Amino acid sequence: MVFNLSNQKQLLSKIATNNGHGEDSPYFDGWKAYDSDPYHPTHNPRGVIQMGLAENELCFDLIQDWIVNNPKASVCTAEGANEFKDIAIYQDYHGLPEFRNAIAKFMGKVRGDRVTFNADRIVMSGGATGAHEMMVFCLADRGDAFLVPTPYYPGFDRDLRWRTGVQLLPVGCESSNNFKLTKEALEMAYGKALEANIRVKGLLITNPSNPLGTLLDTETLKDLVSFINEKKIHLVCDEIYAATVFSQPGFVSIAEIIQEEGVECNRDLIHIVYSLSKDMGFPGFRVGIVYSYNDGVVNCARKMSSFGLVSTQTQYLIASMLSDDIFVEKFIAKSAERLDKRHEAFTKGLAQVGIGSLKSNAGLFFWMDLRRLLEEPTVEAETALWRIIIKDVKLNVSPGSSFHCSEPGWFRVCFANMDDDTMKVALRRIRSFMLIQNKGMETAPAKRQCWRSKLQVSLSFRKLDDMMMTPHMMSPHSPISSPLVRARN
Ligand SMILES: Cc1ncc(COP(=O)(O)O)c(C=O)c1O
Repeated sequence: MVFNLSNQKQLLSKIATNNGHGEDSPYFDGWKAYDSDPYHPTHNPRGVIQMGLAENELCFDLIQDWIVNNPKASVCTAEGANEFKDIAIYQDYHGLPEFRNAIAKFMGKVRGDRVTFNADRIVMSGGATGAHEMMVFCLADRGDAFLVPTPYYPGFDRDLRWRTGVQLLPVGCESSNNFKLTKEALEMAYGKALEANIRVKGLLITNPSNPLGTLLDTETLKDLVSFINEKKIHLVCDEIYAATVFSQPGFVSIAEIIQEEGVECNRDLIHIVYSLSKDMGFPGFRVGIVYSYNDGVVNCARKMSSFGLVSTQTQYLIASMLSDDIFVEKFIAKSAERLDKRHEAFTKGLAQVGIGSLKSNAGLFFWMDLRRLLEEPTVEAETALWRIIIKDVKLNVSPGSSFHCSEPGWFRVCFANMDDDTMKVALRRIRSFMLIQNKGMETAPAKRQCWRSKLQVSLSFRKLDDMMMTPHMMSPHSPISSPLVRARN
């Protein structure tokens, strides 16, 4: 029997078949393009390079060493087999105490030990994805809204809205002041919601920012605290990129702000979402955390945590790894050092061909400025350019519109999910592309050549890429493997 969409809709629930998942956006289309033609240095050197996945793969050598040196922690080893039964049977839904202690300590370490976290307030969930949904379930009812500064991580539309019926209302941030979040923008978004009779239950911030790679400064954080206290709404801080900060200024957590003298804050309104997906590079382990200063939220979230528990085997391994102070210190320092180096290589490489990016010092990505390549400042023109980048240049970068950016022409470029050789291939492709773009602009400055003849650009690009793709330039190494279906990033 053939199922078409309409009879599927009759058979399934409305909530399951509404398009709240947002799967049909360019953000997810880019992954599909990558999955159908993934780059490989020898098997598919013309394939799409995945630069739309915020994964931290630069320190797996350190992890691997630790795993080899600590075989007991993995349980399914000769050294760990004695623990197997205890790990395999039902455990306390609150999580292993040693796991919660280790996470609390790690969260403090990542914040320079300037704050401490109470292990009793740590609630587990399936990644930050599960943690966000859990937060929204605890704080808001169907139809209520959260304010979210733009540009923001596209997964929020799915994670916070899809199954809860909660709305996200954008707070506009502009390139003219480096996408800084302002009090005026917050007030404006809040006022608009009131006018539309929408109940605002909270403000969700991501610090460090995905997609910008920038940090919120102390003054802005204090402004946010006074804003949410004045309005009596919640502040949910997604701090999952806390340890990806690779240069100054350093990261300031909301946890530090609320303990500062002179900062008046009702702590019942403050919640942190964390995970090990980015800082440790373990998205596959699905370790997500809700850390709330509100006892009611902690209790409520605990009851819900059985829907998204972290497996006990993972808890056991993580508890052991994160309790190793020497390893943790070394990992955090090395990870930052390698992210810094990679970020610099990429952004400098692009600057050499005239591509700018927003100044940033955190995250696994940067925010690339291709506004000057747009025929006109519209989302349609941005999407058309994105199609060329993915189809002809064969790079999966993510267009700003999928992050709800109000200004067309910005793209998020992920740089930590590939090896050095793949990075060089990506840079070379962008350079070839820009050579053609720049040439087109010289010969027809008034009308941008690239848009008038997409085919011509595509053919010229391929010719140039062929010339540059001499065999000795091909990487002998395999790129980081391509999982066919990656749930998110
Ligand atoms: C800001 C932000 N929050 C949450 C998530 C989801 O993280 P997790 O893999 O831990 O569910 C991501 C993933 O990219 C993210 O960038």
